[in-house]
Order: sequence, then C-alpha cells, then structure tokens
Amino acid sequence: MTTYLSGIQPSGLPHLGNYFGAIRQHIALSQQGGDNFYFIADYHALTTNRDPAELRTRVREVALTYLALGLDTEKATFFRQSDVPEVCELSWLLSTVTGMGLLERAVSYRDKVERGITATVGLFTYPALMSADILAYDSNFVPVGADQKQHVEIARDMAQSFNAAYGETFVLPEATLSPTAKVPGIDGQKMSKSYGNSIWVFETGKPLKKIVGQVLTDSRAPEEPKDPAGVLLLELLRLFLSPTEQADWEERVRRGGEGAPGYGHLKVRLVECIEEHFRPARERRAALLADPAEVERVLAKGAERARARAVATRDRALRNCGLR
Ligand code: AMP
Ligand code: TRP
Repeated sequence: MTTYLSGIQPSGLPHLGNYFGAIRQHIALSQQGGDNFYFIADYHALTTNRDPAELRTRVREVALTYLALGLDTEKATFFRQSDVPEVCELSWLLSTVTGMGLLERAVSYRDKVERGITATVGLFTYPALMSADILAYDSNFVPVGADQKQHVEIARDMAQSFNAAYGETFVLPEATLSPTAKVPGIDGQKMSKSYGNSIWVFETGKPLKKIVGQVLTDSRAPEEPKDPAGVLLLELLRLFLSPTEQADWEERVRRGGEGAPGYGHLKVRLVECIEEHFRPARERRAALLADPAEVERVLAKGAERARARAVATRDRALRNCGLR
C-alpha cells in the first residue's frame, strides 16, 4: 500500500496558502485511499517558538483546522509529532550516518538565520528530525510545497546512507508538489505567516473585509483596459471561482470601458467567496472549539496508530545497526 505523509508547523493561524497549497491536498489524498499520515510538527516549532501557552494554542488551532475542513480521521492518521517520541531516536540514528555537508547545504536554515531566527543546533539539525518523521512511517510520497522539497531529498539521502551502512532499513521517499504551488499574499508576495500578508482561512465579517480591503491594487480607473494577469485580486479569486465566472471577470477587466468592474467590486466578490467557501468549516470549527475532549480523543487515536508504525521502524533500525 502506498503511504503518503506530511507535516505542518504550528506557527500561526493557518492561511489560504496553507489550505490551497497543502491541507486541501492532504484531505483529498486521504479520500483516494492508500495509507495517509498527517501531523502537527510541534517539536519543529520549538526552533522558532519559546512561548509555551502560544505553542499550545497554535497546535490546537492546526488540529481544529484540519478537522473542521473535513479530514476524515478514520481514513487518515492525524496526530501530534511529539506524541511519537521515537522520531527523536530515529533522528539521532540518522544523524550518525549524515555528513555535515548535507545539512550545511540546506537553504531553509540559511534563510531562517538571515531572517533573524537564532541559529541553534536544533534549527541546524531540523532536516534530520524531518527525515525521521518521513522515514518512521515508511512514506513513499511526501506532499509539500516547493520550499520543503530539498528537505525530502535530504531524507532520501539519509535513508540511502543508513541502508548502505546497515542493509535495507528505510523506504526511500519522494516529494510531490501541490498543484497550487504559490498562493500570493495581500501584498503580492508569497502568502506567509512570517511576512504578515496572510488571510486566515476562518476570517469572517468585519476583520475579513478589512484584510481584503488591504489587497494591493493600483490607481488605474475601472474603465481603463487591463491585463488580468497583473491583477492580484483576480489571482486570489481564481482559487474560488468556477472557470466560467473567472473568465467572465477577466474578460470585463481586459475590455475596460463603461461597466467594467473596479477593484472594489473584485474585493466584494472575494469577501463573499471566502465567507461562503469556509462557512461550513467555520461552523464545524466553532463546534469543535467547544468540545476540546473530542479533539484530544482524535489526536490520541492518531498517536496510537502512528506510534505503532514508528516503533516498528525504530526497532528495525536499532536491530540493524547493532543496538539490539
Ligand atoms: P508553512 O506554513 O510554511 O509551514 O507551510 C505549511 C504548508 O503550506 C507547506 O506544505 C507549504 O508549502 C504550504 N504553503 C505555505 N504557504 C504557501 C503559499 N503561499 N502558497 C502555497 N502553499 C503554501
Ligand atoms: N518542515 C515542514 C514545514 O516547515 C514541516 C514538517 C516537519 C514536515 N516534518 C515534516 C513536512 C515531514 C513533511 C514531512 O512546513
């Protein structure tokens, strides 16, 4: 059976980029069959978060998000990374067969340090923990965004080194990139928690109008014909609209003239789309928020299933390298 696995860091409120670039694929893959593992990368979050209360809130928010958006936890194993401590053991084993150069070449470490994140040992060895996450579950495919592709290749390299030293132990994983590679933020750059340009998936009412109101536009009048490719609002609307409605708005923007939509019209439509698209999920989130025991129950069930597989892999690795 094919195994799919991915993790998401609890680093803030899940935004449209996380949904269209990652979470939606995870939910869809789970419905297609195969073995699916999705987890909240809370150990990883310690490389950037030092506030325990905040970390707890964020972990809960990621859990609520997946469940509210419809992840079927009968079909997918959904859990918290730190509920499977075996990954820390595996991370150590992997680090002993990994050359320094492999991690020194990781671009995300350098990016993060350049952005002012403290260069701890944990931040440096983060790809070893991520490799353990991937290898612990015998993952075949890892659906991630382009920024994580190098880390999956590192996992593959580590698996190969371990297998070469100790015989067949780990399955070699492969990254699969999501079809929605890059959702832009309200400033036109990649939507990201760290750029302050994101729209929370469950934003609604006045705050939603306010954030959509801030989507970057220019001072061209509605009548002026425009290339739709350069209109950020249309790019965001494309995430929601039917191809027919999208083509219609684009045509009217391209033609310009009397009756062409202004940026204000596009903003009103975008607010409606976000409100409508996420309404059922927003309601489920509210219900789950009121029932923390249910969320814990789901995570505990996921942890149990995940752990069974990780323990088997850990035991195999220990045996093969001579620790058992
Ligand atoms: P992060 O929030 O960076 O930990 O990302 C969690 C997941 O969402 C990863 O698979 C990312 O590739 C994906 N993701 C984050 N931001 C975007 C974006 N702006 N567009 C598409 N996918 C994204
Ligand atoms: N590093 C990933 C991110 O920042 C999160 C993550 C941790 C992950 N372990 C993983 C993703 C294993 C895929 C597989 O988005």
